[in-house]
Amino acid sequence: MSAQLLDGKVMSEALRGEIALRVAALKEKGVTPGLAVILVGEDPASQIYVRNKGVGCEQVGIHSVTIRLPETTAQAELEEHIRRLNADESIHGILVQLPLPKGLDEAAALAVIAPEKDVDGFHIQNAGKLLNGLPGVVACTPKGALEMIRRTGIDLNGKEAVVVGRSNIVGKPMAMLLLQQNCTVTMCHSRTVDLAAHTRRADILVAAVGKAKFITADMVKPGAVVIDVGINRVDGKVVGDVDFDAVREVAGWITPVPGGVGRMTITMLLANTVEAAERTLHA
Ligand code: GUN
Repeated sequence: MSAQLLDGKVMSEALRGEIALRVAALKEKGVTPGLAVILVGEDPASQIYVRNKGVGCEQVGIHSVTIRLPETTAQAELEEHIRRLNADESIHGILVQLPLPKGLDEAAALAVIAPEKDVDGFHIQNAGKLLNGLPGVVACTPKGALEMIRRTGIDLNGKEAVVVGRSNIVGKPMAMLLLQQNCTVTMCHSRTVDLAAHTRRADILVAAVGKAKFITADMVKPGAVVIDVGINRVDGKVVGDVDFDAVREVAGWITPVPGGVGRMTITMLLANTVEAAERTLHA
C-alpha cells in the first residue's frame, strides 16, 4: 500500500491565504508587516532560499527587503546592520541567512537580533523559551513539520517519535515540539549505534541529516509518519534524506522533496513575521 502524501504546497496555499487576511487586517490598522533578510556571500543554495522567501512575502503582502553583503563583510559591520534593523519600526522580522561565510561568528550575530524580531526562532532566548515550554518564536522548519504531522489527524499522545539529526535549527527544536505533544522522543545522530533499530520503532520519523536517500525502506515502521527535512542536490536534482520511492510503499504518510517541508518552512516564516507585527499592536 502506498503512503498518503503530506503535500506542503497544498497545505501552504491554505495557510498563506489565512496569513494574507491577517496582513490585510494589519494594514487596515496602519501596520504593514516588514521582513528584512540579510544574505552574506554568494552561496548558491542560500540565494535560492532567499529568493523564495521574498516571493512568499510578496504573495501575502508582507513588505520584504534583502540586504546583500559581500563575503568579505566584517563581523562588526554585519552586527551594525542588525542593530539598525532592530531600531527600524517598519521591520518586524529579521533573518540572517545561514550558513554565514567562514570567519563570521553565527552565534554572535544571532545574539544581536532583538528576540521579538527573531522570526527564525534561533536567538538563544527563543530557543530557551521552547525548552522551558514558554511562549516564544518557534523555528520555522520544525514548526512547519509539526503542522504537517498534526494534519495526519493521528493522536500524538504517547507515540514513539524519532528525530534523526541534532542541529540547533531543526533536530533539537523538533524534539522539543514533539515532547510538548506528549510523544516519547528519541534523538539519533551520527554517533548513534544501530540507527535502524531506533527508526524502526518510530510512529513518527523525522529525517534531518542532510544525506541523500539516507533513510531506506527497511528502516521504517509500516504505517509511520515520515517527515523528510533534507534538501540535497544529486546530479542537478533535489532529493530528500528519505528514499522516497521505496519508503512510500511502507509508510502511512510521507512528505515529498521538493514540495514538502521546505515549502512549509517559508510559510511559517511568513506566519512568524505576521505574529511579530501583531505583537507590536498589542504591546
Ligand atoms: N539556512 C537553512 N535553513 C535556514 C533557515 O531556516 N533560516 C536561516 N536563516 N538560514 C537557514
